Amino acid sequence: MASKTTTHPLIAHELKRTFDTPSGPVEAIRHVNHEFLPGQVTAVMGPSGSGKSTLLNLLAGFDDPSEGHVEYGGTVISDLPERKRAAFRLTTFGFVFQAANLISVLPAARNIAFPMGLAGVPRQERQQRASELLERFGVSHRASALPRTLSGGERQRVAIARALANDPSVVFADEPTGSLDRESGKTVVQALRSVAEDGRAVIMVTHDPEVAAAADDIVRIVDGVMDENDHAG
Ligand SMILES: Nc1ncnc2c1ncn2[C@@H]1O[C@H](COP(=O)(O)OP(=O)(O)OP(=O)(O)O)[C@@H](O)[C@H]1O
Ligand SMILES: [Mg+2]
Repeated sequence: MASKTTTHPLIAHELKRTFDTPSGPVEAIRHVNHEFLPGQVTAVMGPSGSGKSTLLNLLAGFDDPSEGHVEYGGTVISDLPERKRAAFRLTTFGFVFQAANLISVLPAARNIAFPMGLAGVPRQERQQRASELLERFGVSHRASALPRTLSGGERQRVAIARALANDPSVVFADEPTGSLDRESGKTVVQALRSVAEDGRAVIMVTHDPEVAAAADDIVRIVDGVMDENDHAG
């Protein structure tokens, strides 16, 4: 369960996204080319308004590029009709958000099992996998706890467990440590590193240089354009 065998890089080809606004078109990103590699954590950094969320939305197939495309294992994501795209996202991609976004009325274990239900995984297997994932991220003692009773760090680790529910090849995290103190932030970064060590590609937006220092690769965006010469050591 922990290791992925069939993973590909997620490839951005000449991505451009222009938004039409009342004051004219805004080029949020342009000329973005990058291979997000399996087995690596890639940090996406840059000032506010530089285009990080725009890029993440394109990579995850929530939005379509104005030009260029995103490819995974030979599939061009923007070519998929919405139904197929939703199915592709459900089984290939996992998501972790800044505020964890757990379902407030479901206990931790059922939050993790929820995406498996959407993918048609039988009940017993859902429960089995959910408890393995709780165990893996050190939150099995909180299996029956509601999200509001979890600490920030526990909540984020449950969110990471949920992101892995359908064994995705690519995991996206938008500011996963943004609302945590330094110590809990560290455990969350460690959890994301272990997710990459499974052979998955982890793509993480962060403002925090200390968090980015734990990445294998850094994509730095300034005014919608990537700085190609910047890589983590
Ligand atoms: N739907 C939209 N319509 C118009 N302009 C948009 C839209 N979404 C983003 N933009 C603009 O595109 C640019 C990039 O925005 P984006 O949200 O990607 O920045 P960001 O790097 O994620 O910033 P932050 O760190 O503040 O989250 C900004 O100038 C923003 O105002
Ligand atoms: Mg953003």
